[in-house]
Amino acid sequence: MIEFTINGRQVQVEAEPDTPLLWVIRDEAGLTGTKFGCGIGMCGACTVHVGGRATRSCITAVQDVAGTEITTIEGLDENGNHPIQQVWRDLAVPQCGYCQSGQIMQAAAFLKDIPDPSDDDIDAVMTGNLCRCMTYVRIRAAVREAAAAMRGDMSNG
Ligand code: FES
Ligand code: FES
Repeated sequence: MIEFTINGRQVQVEAEPDTPLLWVIRDEAGLTGTKFGCGIGMCGACTVHVGGRATRSCITAVQDVAGTEITTIEGLDENGNHPIQQVWRDLAVPQCGYCQSGQIMQAAAFLKDIPDPSDDDIDAVMTGNLCRCMTYVRIRAAVREAAAAMRGDMSNG
């Protein structure tokens, strides 16, 4: 039995220790916002936060997250109104949408570490999150705008 927390909820799973965390999130916890893309850590569609760090859940064994706190796109904000999600909607970033929860989770972890990123900072971090629909220009603009919104939120207390 492996125990950890997903979106604030304590969970216990019976799974082979090397089961990918992505399968547990989708099939055991029923949280399907996290997507399967490549399965080899190369596309970012499966990105979640483990202990606040952006993590590729497709190549993370469930045994390695025992005792940790995991956040998925469903837990970023209970109403889907995290500042990044709001900006994503305002700028109509998604096209098909498949990659976008991974994009948002990558951006959310990144902006906690670097609240005022340059375009180069954004490109360096977001480049590992692939988008078949080529929404990269909107993603970069949205990360920049979300960073400004989050800094404003912080300065407003
Ligand atoms: S599905 Fe995990 S990185 Fe592509
Ligand atoms: S919006 Fe379609 S893959 Fe990114």
